[in-house]
Amino acid sequence: MKGSARLKSALNVTLVCSSKKAAQEIAVVRRPKVLLTDDDEPPDLWAEYDTDETLAAVEHALSKRYRVTRIEGDASAYARLQALRPDLVFNISEGFGGPNRECHIPILCEILGLPCTGSDALTLGLCLDKARTKEILSHHRIPTPPFLVANASGSRKALNAFPLPAIVKPLREGSSMGIRNDSLVTTRAQQTQRVREITRAYHQPVLVEAFLPGREFTVGALGNAPDYEILPIIEINHRALPKDANPIYGYEAKWVWDDPNCPLPILICPAKISAALKKTIRRLVRDALSAFRVQDWCRVDLRLDAAGRPFILELNPLPGILPNPRDNSALPAAARAAGYAYDQLILRVAELALRRTQHGRAKTKIRI
Ligand SMILES: Nc1ncnc2c1ncn2[C@@H]1O[C@H](COP(=O)(O)OP(=O)(O)O)[C@@H](O)[C@H]1O
Ligand SMILES: [Mg+2]
Repeated sequence: MKGSARLKSALNVTLVCSSKKAAQEIAVVRRPKVLLTDDDEPPDLWAEYDTDETLAAVEHALSKRYRVTRIEGDASAYARLQALRPDLVFNISEGFGGPNRECHIPILCEILGLPCTGSDALTLGLCLDKARTKEILSHHRIPTPPFLVANASGSRKALNAFPLPAIVKPLREGSSMGIRNDSLVTTRAQQTQRVREITRAYHQPVLVEAFLPGREFTVGALGNAPDYEILPIIEINHRALPKDANPIYGYEAKWVWDDPNCPLPILICPAKISAALKKTIRRLVRDALSAFRVQDWCRVDLRLDAAGRPFILELNPLPGILPNPRDNSALPAAARAAGYAYDQLILRVAELALRRTQHGRAKTKIRI
């Protein structure tokens, strides 16, 4: 079949995104009320939003098999989706603010009865909140570092007793927003200062977590329970960071020191690890994916303690997908190592979602 004829019979897919452009426009409108003054604006405020390059690459991949429309995951999304009624929503929208921002599009899809790629709103909401993530991991006896949540009122006594060194981060950000070289604190004064700075700049509770000094890994996964495909394990190579930098894959490491014109050799894939460690990491990742009922795709971050035991730091059920290999985007890199070119990765996620939702519908019919 010729390309155009094939596409005539193709399914309609709506790509829902949160572009940097839209985020900046929305923030400009909102700033007087809820956002920050220019002086307060953290330099990484826009880090998690989609660039034109990413959006073009995802749209290009989907267009190979589907008829694609792109919309923003903003306040106009409900009406747009209601009018379009696509066969599938391909969701990469991080949302435009609020503690439930990553849930916005899956919720709209649920209301409208539209199949949507990725995890549902509950999973996305829980994983955006790093403390909730850790509470659930703990319930399932999946190792995660000890932590506490600091906020403006109270918790001072517990904060002052929290063992150091610790890492201090915003409760619900991604893409290393608010995690900087100085987020590793070794004194109470540094801890207090960092908690204050994050509260002020990010307007949200602060997570104080035991710092794990060992090797760091990130693991991509595709699929649905119980058939998750665990992609080759990536090691975050802290030796690639500048000599005096702390061993943290934070804001500077992702967005300042690493430049696509001269990329840092920060991702080692597949990681060079013993068979025993590989087995343990893969088991922990599977357990975490099942515990959170992750759907279609995800990336799980882990780190070893001083004794070499792995702990889960966080789950990213809406993973970063920068298309240019020189940008060191972990999920596309792991997928490449498993034999999926970028377009194949995107099409695989669409296919997994279609299969999952059709299967779900068939099951519902039988039950009725
Ligand atoms: N408890 C910890 N111990 C050691 N390093 C940590 C810890 N938490 C975070 N880090 C470092 O900070 C980086 C970013 O933290 P993470 O919790 O994954 O946030 P993000 O959502 O921004 O990716 C990690 O990749 C790791 O290098
Ligand atoms: Mg992370």
